[in-house]
Amino acid sequence: MTIEESAVATGATAMLYHRIGADLLGDPAAERTNPARPRQVVAVTPEGDSSTVDDAVMAARAAQPGWAGLGAPARGAILLRAGAILAGRQQAVAADLVREEGKTLAEATGEVGRAIEILQYYGGEGRRGRGEVVPSGTPHTLAYTRREPLGVIGIITPWNFPIAIPTWKTAPALIAGNAVVLKPASMTPLSVWHVAQALADAGLPPGVLNIVYGPGGVIGTAIAAHPQIAAVSFTGSNAVGREIEAIVTARHARIQLEMGGKNPLIVLDDADPVFAARLAAESGFGLTGQACTATSRVICTPGSHDALVDALVREAARYRPGDGLDPGTVMGPVVSAGQLRTDLEWIETGRAQGATLVTPPVEHDRQFLTPAVFTGVLPAHRIAQEEVFGPVLAVMRADDVDDAIAIANDIPYGLSAGVVTDDMRMARRFIDSIRAGIVKVNRPTSGVDPNVPFGGVKESSTNTYREQGSAASDFFTWTKSVYLGMDR
Ligand code: UN1
Repeated sequence: MTIEESAVATGATAMLYHRIGADLLGDPAAERTNPARPRQVVAVTPEGDSSTVDDAVMAARAAQPGWAGLGAPARGAILLRAGAILAGRQQAVAADLVREEGKTLAEATGEVGRAIEILQYYGGEGRRGRGEVVPSGTPHTLAYTRREPLGVIGIITPWNFPIAIPTWKTAPALIAGNAVVLKPASMTPLSVWHVAQALADAGLPPGVLNIVYGPGGVIGTAIAAHPQIAAVSFTGSNAVGREIEAIVTARHARIQLEMGGKNPLIVLDDADPVFAARLAAESGFGLTGQACTATSRVICTPGSHDALVDALVREAARYRPGDGLDPGTVMGPVVSAGQLRTDLEWIETGRAQGATLVTPPVEHDRQFLTPAVFTGVLPAHRIAQEEVFGPVLAVMRADDVDDAIAIANDIPYGLSAGVVTDDMRMARRFIDSIRAGIVKVNRPTSGVDPNVPFGGVKESSTNTYREQGSAASDFFTWTKSVYLGMDR
């Protein structure tokens, strides 16, 4: 079957294939079931191996010069058209996203909206471009820089934002003139398919975006090791990220990693407790807590603690888990049985180390897990230090704002951090001293704009190249300096 003939009906079991060049390839091998309805098979994919990655890289290499040669405005027009096509399919694609990942329809609709905005943003970049004119020391000489594409980019994406993250890595790679080999998370093969299909329908030449399905250990490793992949952009766990990094840097290729977080929300004495609790819950329980930008620690100064805890317990009661497709659902199921086990282990660890569960005892029916709020969490507790990736909040006490910032910084991660206060002097102190790539005052720690640089410090990120915004093009291009002498 060719890509032109392909169409995935939404709502049914999707039969997916590797997308390599103009072809759809592979035999059905792996099933993804709906985390809310375990008997419903959402998608069936092949499982590739390193030779599938070889084929995809070959297709990408063949397509890349023609794609780069089109020029950025023409590339941008295709991205803009893909954004419009995806916008026409937004509801159906969002429903598929819910069925494969579990988040609520509102969250999924927002995420598809984000993918559309990303395509529009980078489509527009096609008419801007980057480079500078630099004064040369030699007379009658024009010195300027141009951004050159790297060639073939490897992209490895997680399950928790199955359409936004593949799009925010792919769109800037493409607008810069690169070709891509993408490996989506095994649990979420379908959402990314819709992006690839929208791009193909918009006129993306075959081979410019190739998708290979299969286990991360096999496909991710093959992408990392492939000598013809110039750069690898990865979002996922720290353990896997560091393995990929070791392979990529050993062959001196470029790497960008976005990994874990342990994001604090500091609540100062003057904060409105209901507003602060709403922010904590939105980022702590929204998306079922499955975001690297999720709030996982709420650090209170003495005057805010008790009222915040009361408000947070009330807020948590609203987050009853349910099927994301039911319009009343505010929190979807945990993504997998394995993730559920991990979440339950974390809740047990919190209790065993002496924290107090102040929400009703945690219940789970299949993968539907109720949220947990712990108080009395100390900086040395594991739930204060390690990423949980579930609807679990650790409330901690601090002596004052400086102590709160010190506790907030006392972790291996530095992705996102927030403070709730109307005192601008305190907000400034927080902005100055917090060690995190994303810093927010009176806003949830999760949620980012496509045109604002994204990334963290410490163990959260390679902290070399930022994603999103115009910063993304630094990773996907190299700088060529040109001297153009205009006389002899
Ligand atoms: C967001 O907060 O909206 O994997 C984005 C993650 C992050 C993206 C978070 N890389 O959760």
